[in-house]
Amino acid sequence: MRIGILGSGLMGGKLGTIFARAGHDVVFSYARTEQKLKKLAREAKGKARAGSPGDAARGSDVLLVAVHWSRVDDVLQQAGDVSGKVIISCSLPMNADDTGLVVAHTSSGAEELARKVPQARVVSAFGTVPSEVLFDVFKARRKATRPSLIYCGDDGKSKKVAARLIRDVGFDPVDAGPLRMARYTEPFTLLIAQLAYEGAKGPGLAYRLEWF
Ligand SMILES: NC(=O)c1ccc[n+]([C@@H]2O[C@H](COP(=O)([O-])OP(=O)(O)OC[C@H]3O[C@@H](n4cnc5c(N)ncnc54)[C@H](OP(=O)(O)O)[C@@H]3O)[C@@H](O)[C@H]2O)c1
Repeated sequence: MRIGILGSGLMGGKLGTIFARAGHDVVFSYARTEQKLKKLAREAKGKARAGSPGDAARGSDVLLVAVHWSRVDDVLQQAGDVSGKVIISCSLPMNADDTGLVVAHTSSGAEELARKVPQARVVSAFGTVPSEVLFDVFKARRKATRPSLIYCGDDGKSKKVAARLIRDVGFDPVDAGPLRMARYTEPFTLLIAQLAYEGAKGPGLAYRLEWF
């Protein structure tokens, strides 16, 4: 797949690197310095390059939105036309100091994002785990038991694309249903963040759902 990374920080930088190592074509975009994007592309060691958000959008079928909530409008404006693209978002609608959700209960960040890009198909994925666990999950992808990763969205084809990428990273995708399920997955992430960053065992945390 050709994947554009909109926001090449902790999440976008790591996921883009893993996507490239899994054989995808990746464009890293949107960081404060061009050098950072170039370094990410170089170190990804796959088919990866640095570009502008416009380059990332033009050259790709899938876009990963991985910016702070306050930067979503800016990155989308810089990306330009996203008609027909699959947009996977891991962005949570957090306030400026990341202490609480600014959208919740009656909507979600994922639904608000979908309203901003009605010509694209939004899937909410990857936002329920800390960035610190991503490389370890990728490394462990051949083990018999994989951690789960919840995702949701309204478009079946886009969800298939997301599920494939989720598998490529090393997770077992769990389809939570339509995009409005992000009203539950986004607050769930605050629990995961609490355990990861305030708990005694450190931030390398993933989760596994089991049905009996
Ligand atoms: N971190 C996590 O573990 C985690 C987990 C789940 C969900 N999330 C969500 O994922 C999203 C991304 O989080 P993150 O931790 O990856 O954020 P981050 O590390 O701060 O990355 C954001 C990216 O946006 C870039 N950026 C910010 N302001 C910019 C500007 N004015 N111009 C150009 N680029 C700019 C940053 O540039 P620089 O690289 O130059 O700083 C960085 O590349 C957030 O919505 C967050 O809530 C994060």
